[in-house]
Amino acid sequence: MKIGIDRLTFATTELYLDLRDLAAARHVDPDKYLMGIGQSQQAVIPPTQDAVTLAAQAAAKIPAAELAQVSTVIVATESGVDNSKAAALYVKQLLGLSDFVRTIELKEACYSATAGLQFAKGLVALHPTEKILVIASDIARYGLQTGGEVTQGGGAVAMVVAKDPRVLELESTSVAFSQDVMDFWRPLYRSEALVDGKYSTQVYIDFFQACWQRYQQLTGATLDDFAGFLFHLPFTKMGKKALASELGDRDDQVAQRFWAVLQASQVYSRRVGNLYTGSLYLSLLSALNHGQLQAGNRLGLFSYGSGAEGEFLTGRLVDGFAAALERPDAMLDQRRQVSVAEYETLFNQHLGLQSQDCTFDLSDSQAPFVLAGQQNHQRQYQRRG
Ligand code: COA
Repeated sequence: MKIGIDRLTFATTELYLDLRDLAAARHVDPDKYLMGIGQSQQAVIPPTQDAVTLAAQAAAKIPAAELAQVSTVIVATESGVDNSKAAALYVKQLLGLSDFVRTIELKEACYSATAGLQFAKGLVALHPTEKILVIASDIARYGLQTGGEVTQGGGAVAMVVAKDPRVLELESTSVAFSQDVMDFWRPLYRSEALVDGKYSTQVYIDFFQACWQRYQQLTGATLDDFAGFLFHLPFTKMGKKALASELGDRDDQVAQRFWAVLQASQVYSRRVGNLYTGSLYLSLLSALNHGQLQAGNRLGLFSYGSGAEGEFLTGRLVDGFAAALERPDAMLDQRRQVSVAEYETLFNQHLGLQSQDCTFDLSDSQAPFVLAGQQNHQRQYQRRG
C-alpha cells in the first residue's frame, strides 16, 4: 500500500523582524546574519500566538471536507503549553473536529514531527481508510541578546497522512539514531532554551552521517538514486554544513543537483527562522514550490532533534503534487515588519510561566486563532471569523 503526505500547509505570525535591524541593534556585521548564519528575516511572535494557535492556523488551511475525515490529530511540539494536557486537544476543539477523534502530543525537540509521521504511517497501514493529521508547531525562543537570538522564529506545518497520497509517498526503509546528548534542552522552569550551539551543530552533522551511512549499507543506495536531500533547518547555513559534510568539494552534476535542491528548500526558512519540529517540513514545502522537482523524484529527508535524535527517511514525489501544497509566498510578503524595540516588547509580553490571570489586547491582530489570555490557570483560546 502507498502511504505518505497527502496535503502540506504552513502558518506563521503576521509580524517579522528584518535581521539587518537586529544586526544594527546588536552591533554585529549584518553579513554575519545574512550570509554567515543564512537568515534574512525572523517571525516575531506576539503574546496572542503560541504553539496551539499556530497549529490550528496551519491545519485550518486544509479543506474542511478533508479535515472531516481525520481520525487522529498528532501535535508535535517542544513549545507545549501544558505539562499534562495535549496541545492536540485544544487544536481539535479550535478546528471543530468530531469528538470521535484521537488526540495526542509528541515531544523530542525538533525531531518529533518525524516520529508523528511514522506513527501516522503505521495507523494508516492498519486502517487504510483513515487520514491522520500531523501538525508540527513551535516557537524558537533563545532570549534577547543571546547567541541563539538570530536563529529564533516560529510557525507550524500541517500534514495529512493517507493512503495513495498526493504529495510524497513514504518509502519503507528509514534509519533512526538516538543518543543522550546535552546540546540543547529546556528545563521545566524555563521558557527559553539552553543551548551549546557549536556543539549541537557538530552533533547534527555526526547524526546525519550516521543515519545516511547506515541507510546506504541497508539499501545499497547512493546519492545517484536521489534528486536531493532536505534538512531540518534551524538556520539555513546548517543545511549547507550538513550537505557539505557529504559532498565535500564535488562539483559534478549530482553535486550541482543536490545544491540546487538545498537552495530551493531554504527560501521560506530564511524568512521565518527556526520552526523547531516544523523546519524540515517547511524545507520540503519550499523545495517543492521553488525547485525543479518532478513526479517520480526520490527525496531524502534528514530530521534532527537535539538531545538528540536523528532520522533519515525517503519518499517519492507523486504526479500532480503541486495541487496539494500551500504556496505561502504572498502570505509572507504581507506580514508587517516590526522594529527591534517592538520585537523586544512583544518578546517580553509572552505568557511564559506566569500563573496570574491576564487579558491580551487583540485589536492589532487579524489572526484566525488567538490566545486571548489566561483565567483561573486556563488558557483562553478563540477562533475568530
Ligand atoms: N560575514 C560573513 N560571515 C560571517 C561574518 C561576517 N561578517 N561573521 C561571522 N560569519 C560567519 C562565521 O564564519 C560562521 O560561519 P561558519 O559556521 O560557516 O564557520 C557563522 O557566520 C556564524 O558565526 P559564529 O561566530 O560561529 O556564530 P555564533 O558564535 O554567533 O553562533 C550559532 C552561531 C548558530 C551556533 C548560534 O546562533 C546558536 O547557538 N544558535 C542556536 C542553536 C542552533 O540553532 N543549533 C543548530 C543545531 S539544531
